[in-house]
Amino acid sequence: MSSPLGTDLGPREKPLLVFGGIYGNFEALGALLHTAHELGLTAADMVHTGDVAAYCADTHACATRLRDLAIPSIKGNVEQQLAASAGDCGCGFDEGSQCDALSAKWYARANAQTTPELRGWMADLPDHITFQMNGVSCHVIHGGFSDISRFMFESVTGTAFEQEMSATAADCVIAGHTGIPFTRPVGTRLWHNSGALGMPANDATRRAWFSLISPHGSGIEIAQHAISYDAATTAQKTRAAGLPEEYARALETGLWPNTDHLPAAETANSGKELPTGSFVWQPIRVAAE
Ligand SMILES: [Fe+2]
Repeated sequence: MSSPLGTDLGPREKPLLVFGGIYGNFEALGALLHTAHELGLTAADMVHTGDVAAYCADTHACATRLRDLAIPSIKGNVEQQLAASAGDCGCGFDEGSQCDALSAKWYARANAQTTPELRGWMADLPDHITFQMNGVSCHVIHGGFSDISRFMFESVTGTAFEQEMSATAADCVIAGHTGIPFTRPVGTRLWHNSGALGMPANDATRRAWFSLISPHGSGIEIAQHAISYDAATTAQKTRAAGLPEEYARALETGLWPNTDHLPAAETANSGKELPTGSFVWQPIRVAAE
């Protein structure tokens, strides 16, 4: 269970760039920072939803860059485990599954690349971040409120989303961890996942995902973006580091090595190119009697 440690960014007037799942992919992180610069956004206009390390080779370089730029970030399960020098990534994969076996390999490299200074930085990251935009309150978490490693995919039941959202009074929850972007209304509120930066969205494209949240009318606009980057170099570095070939191929093909932990609806969408687009939303306020 996460501690209640959190950071409030306060009211936001400028757009906020939300991204997560860098996964040790230094080339995708570089492309994102270039895009942010072109959009006129600084590090203070960005939020990372956790998992700076995972499948790709550059844990140390990515964590150092994120720390030195002081981009507001929360702990993912990966930061939580690395900070504690734990023995595995804490993803909760079934023992003996392919995900479990493959994750042991990237976690060992990520752990070896994490210096004591970086472990201390990870330990000090907040578990959640809040901010307000145009009267909309937003709560940034990693997986779920009940479990940092809960996989809240778009097709998960409404009851599960309502359960998770009962832990916050915020209008909008912004999460990461699952690697596929979506925006889903939950009753009168909203759940958004910006997808992953460092691994494709299992849609047969190599793209890296992030979101821009902006004031719009009397609410907000959430725009899901996908950018291209030098995935061939990332794949080559993954192989050179002795990491599983399955990850290198996933970077090149845009398809995950397996769909063991995916619900049926997301599995059925494997290999179908995800659209980008935006979602305009305003909270529904119930007038007091
Ligand atoms: Fe995660």
